[in-house]
Amino acid sequence: MSASSDMLRFLACGSVDDGKSTLIGHLIHLTGNLPDDQLHVLEAESARIGTTSGALNYSLLLDGLMAEREQGITIDVAYRYFETPRRKFIVADTPGHESYTRNMATGASHCTAALILVDASQGVLPQTRRHVLICVLMGIRNLLFAVNKMDQAGWEEMRFRRIEENCHRMAEKAGLLASCRCNLLAVPVSALQGDNLTALSDRMPWYGGATVLEWLESSAAEEAVVDAPFRLPVQYVLKGSNDGWGCQQDGEGCPAGRDGRATWRSYAGSVVSGRVCVGDRIVILPSGVETTVERLLIGDRKADSADTGMAVSLVLAGEHDIVRGDCLAHPVDRPEQAGLFKVRLVWMDQQPLYAGRRYLFRSVFGTIEARISRIRDRVGLDAYQLLAADRLAQNDIGEVELSLARLFPFDPYSENRETGAFILIDRISNATVACGMIQHPLRRGSNIHWQREELTRELRAGLNGQKPCVIWLTGLSGSGKSTLANCLERMLHDMGHHTMLLDGDNVRHGLNRDLGFTEADRIENIRRIGEVAKLMTDAGLIVITAFISPFRADRNMVRALLPDGEFIEIHVATPLEVCETRDPKGLYRKARNGEIPNFTGVNAPYEEPLRPELLLDTTARSAKDCADDIMSLLRQDGFI
Ligand code: ADX
Repeated sequence: MSASSDMLRFLACGSVDDGKSTLIGHLIHLTGNLPDDQLHVLEAESARIGTTSGALNYSLLLDGLMAEREQGITIDVAYRYFETPRRKFIVADTPGHESYTRNMATGASHCTAALILVDASQGVLPQTRRHVLICVLMGIRNLLFAVNKMDQAGWEEMRFRRIEENCHRMAEKAGLLASCRCNLLAVPVSALQGDNLTALSDRMPWYGGATVLEWLESSAAEEAVVDAPFRLPVQYVLKGSNDGWGCQQDGEGCPAGRDGRATWRSYAGSVVSGRVCVGDRIVILPSGVETTVERLLIGDRKADSADTGMAVSLVLAGEHDIVRGDCLAHPVDRPEQAGLFKVRLVWMDQQPLYAGRRYLFRSVFGTIEARISRIRDRVGLDAYQLLAADRLAQNDIGEVELSLARLFPFDPYSENRETGAFILIDRISNATVACGMIQHPLRRGSNIHWQREELTRELRAGLNGQKPCVIWLTGLSGSGKSTLANCLERMLHDMGHHTMLLDGDNVRHGLNRDLGFTEADRIENIRRIGEVAKLMTDAGLIVITAFISPFRADRNMVRALLPDGEFIEIHVATPLEVCETRDPKGLYRKARNGEIPNFTGVNAPYEEPLRPELLLDTTARSAKDCADDIMSLLRQDGFI
């Protein structure tokens, strides 16, 4: 991974039968990277199988695996190596078949460029769109579209231009979604006959751009991880006495053990990004303890520094309690730690993903229990638009909220492809069901590292085995909010959950005693309730509120106070006539008689929620039934 600019790691992808293996095989041959003996075998095999034009069947070079031959498809990521005087190349050759998105995503994560094959006679296919999206989301910014089989398309310019335009549109939209700009070139080629691979073709004089090889030789090969901050996930903790390698290399600085012999402890792992030097200040996460690098070994050789991709052992000053999975970083540029994230997933399992499911989350920092708390949306392949979704099917790409069993170090994927990437594993089958990219944590102030003692709301809530939230019941007076709130709280309580109920009538006797029912007073009423509810969620509680809260803007203000997903607005939408018939406190009658000004529904407005998380009408349903609906929602979204 510590590739320099004279090395390009690129991904080759496309749909089945679009000629990818042929193109790479031909390129390897044309650049003089095919040894004579292999060439002879290829000639003999091609002659035996017979090709239409008598050309070499280059795909035989790459489709080496038996299963591929048998099924006629490429099934694994194969890495090929070739070079020209200008550059060395590693090609990740990935399968085109729909169900092998997994391998494609695996291949993409370490590449800086992608070669995407498009069949000129078919144009851009859904599979092409999927692959382009995965490439761009996985951080590949340089895209080369090889529009192949131009020989079969009569070398026709119009056909190429249409596909080229499509590719531009696709890359632009994918870039919008990933908040990046992509560099793109489309080249018309014949992989079989070699046109525009290493030299411009006479048969397409209308094309004067770069050849495939020129583009590969000049495409930016910057490796983001090299410039990224230093990160080292500890893989092994090595201990020994002074006859160990650590002290043989350098006798000083080894703390003396109780028996008088010097002892040492070193921490081994790969530098996944950045660089570390002897003498560097280091912070150990999650503990937050800071120390200094005393010695650094690469293999068994002493070194002054280590770069991205190197396996190292560090001896640190002082004694520390460091375990596998801990992260070593520079204190000034450390990863954040969070337990709740917004992430992008490429879902690979045959079984769809639903909110509430639990998986194992695995990143370079180890493995931890995770739960999908919410599916936010799915990316439509037509225009890379975000679509509402309650599940992700196989090969879908979507945005979800993920909560982890405890705080975990990470960097956003856009900043660090190593520490921002993860996979999800099925706990029973052990299969990888998704690969993911962390977008951002879902809570401001997630940086517990600068105040180590701080207990977070997650930790408080964790003790209660629940995720805090505010269940905000809104509706007319007499709609059944209070009855429902009481019933719901009882259910939660009986299940062992820690709750708090804030009710309009009660709060107005205390905290909001000074407020009436004018618009201004009602706004202040809701503002205070919102702040109190937020504090209570910080204490880890599930808060239920029952207020008319007639104004949309105020409810939205409370929503904005809370982390995404934690404000659950429930419209108790019992119609005014029913509320008025119930009239439990005789207030509607009084209001109609003109005795109460500003009475909601009579002489003051009620603004219905536009997109409540749940809508309930208590007219013909018991409070228990309605509370059951809320309980299902809480379960589905992972709050209980
Ligand atoms: S809110 O509109 O500011 O959210 P809140 O829920 O706190 O109202 O209080 C509503 C309760 O106050 C009602 O259930 C009713 O018992 C009582 N109340 C007294 N005057 C009014 C009024 N003008 N409008 C609505 N409710 C009133």
